[in-house]
Amino acid sequence: MTAERPSITDRIDAATGGMRLRRLRQADWSRRLVRETQLSPADLIWPIFVREGSDAPQPVESMPGVSRLSVEHCVEAAKRARDLAIPVIALFPYTNPSLRDETGSEALNPDNLVCRATRAIKAAVPEVGIMCDVALDPYTSHGHDGVMVGECIVNDESVELLCRQAVVQAEAGCDIIGPSDMMDGRVGCIRGALDDAGCRDTMIMAYSAKYASAFYGPFRDAVGSGGMLKGDKRTYQMDYANSDEAVREAAQDLAEGADMIMVKPGLPYLDVLARLAREFAVPTFAYQTSGEYSMIMAAVGNGWLDGDKAMVETLTAYKRAGASGILTYFSPKVAAMMRG
Ligand code: PBG
Repeated sequence: MTAERPSITDRIDAATGGMRLRRLRQADWSRRLVRETQLSPADLIWPIFVREGSDAPQPVESMPGVSRLSVEHCVEAAKRARDLAIPVIALFPYTNPSLRDETGSEALNPDNLVCRATRAIKAAVPEVGIMCDVALDPYTSHGHDGVMVGECIVNDESVELLCRQAVVQAEAGCDIIGPSDMMDGRVGCIRGALDDAGCRDTMIMAYSAKYASAFYGPFRDAVGSGGMLKGDKRTYQMDYANSDEAVREAAQDLAEGADMIMVKPGLPYLDVLARLAREFAVPTFAYQTSGEYSMIMAAVGNGWLDGDKAMVETLTAYKRAGASGILTYFSPKVAAMMRG
């Protein structure tokens, strides 16, 4: 007599001990009950491109749904951020080519575009935080984040200018200084310069692990530095093959006085984000870069992806990896969706 073969159900119960993980997934209410991560409008930082003039918003061709806004329209955007409970907007200027030079001197002009936008927004919508990038690339004729001597981006001379840029922006009313330049020692020097200028309360969110990436292309179009860039940024932005180095960068930035750190790009670097968030237990942000945004929107434009679903899924993934928040061009869209 042959033994009766166990049924599939018996086999499964033997293997799982009767624990069926699908049990909790069976209804929307139970899925919501056990969900580990929640995305909320408070997680969002909305990057906005500013331009001169008072004309209508000017679409950025490589970023469907994103436009360069006049100062006046930036104020309207800040009101929208407030109404949608988005805590912070990040301003990025499109600088007229005629104002660009070798050392990016327009960065130090207290009346430059980004400072005027900051003052206008602070006056009209003081309850929304303003973040400004510290880096010279919107202002240099060669498109680099620092000063170029021959083929070299010189570190210390660049840091000197970046400190002055940070103070100019803080004095205009910027709440969060975001050094995105990747020069060595810049966070400590900027902290010192801000304190010396009486800007003790101005926060620093360091782009700590910023990689030399292909995903910044559409952003460079948006700020007009793409066509100008001589060479690439690999002598200062990080090699994308490295993760230990990100830990060293973040440790240094925090020792120098960074209040918050950031990883950029985002989705291809979730391992780095998760590692830094766990290792340092400080507010750690991710930047969903222009290229990541444009990839999704291009697929949406072709009818290949459900854009809203891809948006929420990717933003939730950042949170799951440990992000305190996300800089994303989807901010107004996803905030409106969460509200509705
Ligand atoms: C400037 C800066 C860049 C981005 C943010 N700040 C571009 C670069 O470093 O070349 C990229 C943002 C994006 O791609 O959305 N240093």
